[in-house]
Amino acid sequence: MKEILVTILSITGISTVLAVLIIIAEKFLNNYGECEIDINDGEKKLVVEGGSSLLSSLASNKIFIPSACGGKATCGLCKVKVLDGAGPLLPTEEPYLSQEERKEGVRLSCQVKIKKNLRVYIPEELFNIREYISTVTEIKDMTHDIKEFRFEFKDGEDIKFKAGQYMQIETKPYAKVREKATRAYSVSSVPSDNKAVELIIRRVPGGLCTTYMHDYVKVGDEVRMTGPYGDFYMRDDSDDYVFMAGGSGLAPIKSLVMDIMERNLDKKMIFIFGAVSKKDLYYTDFFREVEKKNRNFRYVPALSRPEPEDNWEGETGLVTEVLKKYVEGGKGKHAYLCGSPGMINACVNVLVDSEFDKKNIYYDKFS
Ligand SMILES: Cc1cc2nc3c(=O)[nH]c(=O)nc-3n(C[C@H](O)[C@H](O)[C@H](O)COP(=O)(O)OP(=O)(O)OC[C@H]3O[C@@H](n4cnc5c(N)ncnc54)[C@H](O)[C@@H]3O)c2cc1C
Ligand code: FES
Repeated sequence: MKEILVTILSITGISTVLAVLIIIAEKFLNNYGECEIDINDGEKKLVVEGGSSLLSSLASNKIFIPSACGGKATCGLCKVKVLDGAGPLLPTEEPYLSQEERKEGVRLSCQVKIKKNLRVYIPEELFNIREYISTVTEIKDMTHDIKEFRFEFKDGEDIKFKAGQYMQIETKPYAKVREKATRAYSVSSVPSDNKAVELIIRRVPGGLCTTYMHDYVKVGDEVRMTGPYGDFYMRDDSDDYVFMAGGSGLAPIKSLVMDIMERNLDKKMIFIFGAVSKKDLYYTDFFREVEKKNRNFRYVPALSRPEPEDNWEGETGLVTEVLKKYVEGGKGKHAYLCGSPGMINACVNVLVDSEFDKKNIYYDKFS
């Protein structure tokens, strides 16, 4: 018994000494001191403390790079051209970078740790992305797992964005979650409503941000966000548009359709909305109303597995089949797709088979 106790105490002692040594080594070995980030050939120069990621160092200096996954290396959106000073490419970056991008020095800024001076190139349009402090003024239940939130900006501040773009919201510590999370949400309201944004958020069971938004955020709470981000916005050079969404992917499509209506653009539009059963449909009356007001707009909800009690007489089956049925001859047409990566990949194939030009197919994958 005594021997066992002595062994346990020795192992604990050795582990403690090793842990202390590792902490001391980290402090001295990883002390990179102050490093300079030279942006766009001297246009801006930042002095930052080494050791953090390029993404977070830029954000602390109010330069916001799209980063929908909050630095987890799963969205691939935080690309920045690093001309000098980045270490070797990490395996976490490889899936997101083409050969061309690698040659040009493009890196995932969330994966680049600042260890020495860096020279980077950042496109001008990213300097327009700003931070907003908002107050939640309305929360609406849209379905059993989708809510729409209205966020009004503090002090009457306004925002300039294009229909289809997204914001990134930041959570605060809640319950047992100590870490902050940043996640992307597409704006469902119109650009003319410029003192606020509305976001449609679907609950992901166990998800960090969606649990926070659905269970902890109340009307009157303050939420920090940055934006606007993304290139999922309407190009005006077509008269014929196909919109397609699943679940919360309806958000940017609603903004696009409302914006086209507000600007009185003479466009032919069809919106195919994929859901599982009737309980997953929302904004149905809204799109039916748009149909009544605009003879050029058609709304097609499609259910993949309607319940018997749904008494559903509309389109049923895979959304790709519905798309094939309604969309033929893609020459000159533009398509805007939003939802899960699986749905989007399958729909892109259908559209390409229907002679849509790949460069006229725009999408935001909610991954
Ligand atoms: C450009 C862009 C725009 C987006 N717009 C919207 C929007 O308007 N509305 C909206 O609801 N979401 C949107 N998303 C998705 C959103 O950013 C989050 O990924 C999602 O809300 C999950 O966040 P979370 O922190 O709750 O889950 P996490 O804590 O990040 O994930 C928990 C677990 O769930 C899995 N998971 C993550 N996302 C999903 C998902 N969507 N479905 C199923 N499983 C998932 C993860 O792999 C993980 O295992 C968008 C994403 C992108 C990239
Ligand atoms: S922030 Fe998502 S990959 Fe870098």
